[in-house]
Amino acid sequence: MSVPVDHETVISATDALWWRQAVVYQIYPRSFADSNADGIGDFAGIVSRAPYLAALGIDAVWLNPFYPSDLADGGYDVIDHRDVDARIGTLADFDALVEVLHAHGIRLLIDIVPNHTSDHHRWFREALDAPPGSSARARYLFRDGTGTDGAQPPTDWRSLFGGSTWQQVPDGQWYLHTFAVEQPDLNWANDEVRDDFLTTLRFWADRGVDGFRVDAAHMLAKDLSDPLPSQDELDLMPRDGNHPLLDRDELQQIYAEWRAVFNAYDPPRTAVAEAAVHASRVPRYASPQTLGQSFFFDLQLADYDPASFHRIIDECLRVAVTSGSSVTWVLNNHDTIRHTSRYGTPFPGYGPDGEPVRKHGGDWLMAGGDPVLLDAARGSRRARAATMLLLALPGSAYLYQGEELGLHEVAELPDAVRQDPSFLRNRAVEVGRDGCRVPLPWTRTGPSFGFGAGGAHLPQPLWFGHYAVEAQQDDPSSTLALYRRALSLRRTLQGAESLQWLPTGRDDVLSFSRPGGWRVVSNFGARPCPLPDGEVLLTSNPLSDHLPGETTVWLRQ
Ligand code: GLC
Ligand code: CA
Repeated sequence: MSVPVDHETVISATDALWWRQAVVYQIYPRSFADSNADGIGDFAGIVSRAPYLAALGIDAVWLNPFYPSDLADGGYDVIDHRDVDARIGTLADFDALVEVLHAHGIRLLIDIVPNHTSDHHRWFREALDAPPGSSARARYLFRDGTGTDGAQPPTDWRSLFGGSTWQQVPDGQWYLHTFAVEQPDLNWANDEVRDDFLTTLRFWADRGVDGFRVDAAHMLAKDLSDPLPSQDELDLMPRDGNHPLLDRDELQQIYAEWRAVFNAYDPPRTAVAEAAVHASRVPRYASPQTLGQSFFFDLQLADYDPASFHRIIDECLRVAVTSGSSVTWVLNNHDTIRHTSRYGTPFPGYGPDGEPVRKHGGDWLMAGGDPVLLDAARGSRRARAATMLLLALPGSAYLYQGEELGLHEVAELPDAVRQDPSFLRNRAVEVGRDGCRVPLPWTRTGPSFGFGAGGAHLPQPLWFGHYAVEAQQDDPSSTLALYRRALSLRRTLQGAESLQWLPTGRDDVLSFSRPGGWRVVSNFGARPCPLPDGEVLLTSNPLSDHLPGETTVWLRQ
């Protein structure tokens, strides 16, 4: 394995558009690699695996939150936005990580969590110690309650993790938390809050970070003026920029301020918004004047179905063009059942709003994944085919750690070990997101399959050994080999950001070409279909003289 080490030759310091077609690999730091046997992944662990990341062929890493945190929500409850959790490392370890990744030609994006802080953030402790109406409380969203003595919450709004969105403090006031109780929402109308985040962005950009993933980017701005609507009224309100809680127009101004910070660097720092908004509003986040890119989750939410894929691809490409952006394709992340398991279970169907029916009623459990119904071989076959389709699309591709190993969702976690607040607060309807966050298997055997020399903070099932890096790295038919080959070919094939659909004569087969003679055929059906002429570059599944079902092939024509 040869690894480039000269930063200047592998990362062009002046390439301001590197992100447009980049492959970004998402690392959930606590579950990637553990260097000191405490069962928690850390920066030194990531550093030790930098050659693995380079050999995989990615362009950038996105790190989930690594900040000091009580882990009430996997690190999204941030105690200090400008420090590192001692269990993960130190600021010096962070600097070393940046240096090592850059030396391997890999850029680094970090997660910024601006909608809320931890309830142990210095600001929230000050807010609790200060009286109602104080400037310390004005950094958050405190209100008086309703009913006799204000004993009832201000509204009946539901938190995204279940239960009320309001929590009462000892003096009787209530604070808003869109997510867990431990995640009080910040007040983005407050100048101190806005300024502090600009300081945070500069802090990390100065340390060499190449870009930012912006958590819950469509939620920061809120209008809590009276009269407050009920949850039912809220659900019916249009998302036209005036909804009290979501996708408000003034966010564009906030992100324009962020853009000014990004553009003060050379090359400008990049950003990608996690914003669940209507397609027509994506440009507000993804324009060159704001964050530059916004995640497109549509494929992740869709069934393994050619008509859906075709429609979504067209729609996303169209929206990205109107934003001056490029699409960010995603099939997996730390919030969703792995695609190997989604595609191996019956699709739960779409509801009247066009969104997939959440099987367990919750917001986070998408599109199937029921372990009892799982056809693992089918799920894996379809997942490989879908990944090869995704990696051939114009735009950037986000991969989530472990998908290159073909890992399935770990559905068999006992309730007692689960950590996710969406399970703990809402267990009647959700199993939560821990099943895709189990520490990676690196070796076939060993105390934590090579994750570290000790245990793993979420238990790994026995079958993880079969999926270990060690079990796959020398096997040309492995999923790891497929990802490596696909990423390396993609570098050579990738050209202009355009795609042309080609007729296939079959509803269950999609085909398109990219400039330069790169042709992709994806057979979603069960029946084989004829292979077009051309040199076969890569296939997700062995070929006969035909293209088998649930298989994608790349050809040069
Ligand atoms: C985002 C994150 C998710 C987290 C939530 C609250 O959606 O992806 O993991 O729980 O924000 O910060
Ligand atoms: Ca550790």
